[in-house]
Amino acid sequence: MITVSHLKKYYQRPVRQEGFLGSVRTLFSTKYETTQAVDDISFHIDEGEVVGYIGPNGAGKSTSIKMLCGILVPTSGDIKVNGLTPHENRMENARQIGAVFGQKTQLWWDVPVIESLRLFRDIYKVSGAQYKHNLELFNDLLDLHEFQNTPVRQLSLGQRMRADMAAALLHNPRLLFLDEPMIGVDVVVKERLRTFIQQINHERKVTVLLTTHDMIDIEKVCSRIMIIDHGRIVYDGNADQMRNQYGKQRTLVVEFEEHVPDFETPHAKIVKSEGRKKWFAFNRFETSPSSLIAHISTSYPILDLAVEEPEIEAIVRTIYQGTAEVA
Ligand SMILES: Nc1ncnc2c1ncn2[C@@H]1O[C@H](COP(=O)(O)OP(=O)(O)OP(=O)(O)O)[C@@H](O)[C@H]1O
Ligand SMILES: [Mg+2]
Repeated sequence: MITVSHLKKYYQRPVRQEGFLGSVRTLFSTKYETTQAVDDISFHIDEGEVVGYIGPNGAGKSTSIKMLCGILVPTSGDIKVNGLTPHENRMENARQIGAVFGQKTQLWWDVPVIESLRLFRDIYKVSGAQYKHNLELFNDLLDLHEFQNTPVRQLSLGQRMRADMAAALLHNPRLLFLDEPMIGVDVVVKERLRTFIQQINHERKVTVLLTTHDMIDIEKVCSRIMIIDHGRIVYDGNADQMRNQYGKQRTLVVEFEEHVPDFETPHAKIVKSEGRKKWFAFNRFETSPSSLIAHISTSYPILDLAVEEPEIEAIVRTIYQGTAEVA
């Protein structure tokens, strides 16, 4: 479905020299600074896969997705999306893909949602029957009718994301590119969007490439993960391993009333200490936070508590460094 080989994208940025003399020099000989945003990546994605594309800020995720959409022209390398080279067949490619960029809406800012959807229907020449069918489906899954007459500029972030998701899928694309579609969305809407992605994948065999910083997205919807760091793919594999190893891990952060030494706790391990705080990693299927708290509080008085989900950045680092070790 998607084949990428030796893909590179280097950005050139002019470097300004300081001071008046510097400005004059810049006029005559501009120096450029190169960012190797995507630096020789290759992968293949089959039809029906849901791939989580993850990595730290600035790793090259959005740049890759923009090249797959045909918005950016690669510096070198090849991309085939369902047989097409995106930047050479931009319109044709647009017909077979849907894209949601969490940072930027695809919809018209001043136009009510439903009007935006009608415009997309006309642009993509979606038949009346298909439009009606999809609108009903999206209504069921995303409750669009709640805000379909509201101009996009007045939508909450969660509503806007639901509208964007509907717009991206109106023309029944074979592929869906999601670049942080969950950004700033509350837990309830996140859950809905996840269910929606799963449903679209199961029922329509839509292939999905999803960028996220949320571990739960990976756990719930992705069958495979690719980790990119500094423009290079550093891990590509089945998501099960990540799910099994990290999905079960939680961390209890305890602030004690006074400084305490490290101590042994059944079913938990101290992974970090800072001042009066300690981080206890535990397996949520083997032990509960309450039993852990009960145990700890018999030894030392507790001031404050919090339970943390595993952070994707930390997991990425662990996998990358090959030092996977879980409590
Ligand atoms: N238009 C541009 N001009 C110059 N450099 C750019 C441009 N767009 C991105 N970059 C640089 O390319 C690198 C990769 O950026 P990209 O947006 O692809 O990262 P990302 O993985 O999507 O990060 P994030 O998780 O923060 O969204 C970064 O170093 C960024 O500063
Ligand atoms: Mg990005």
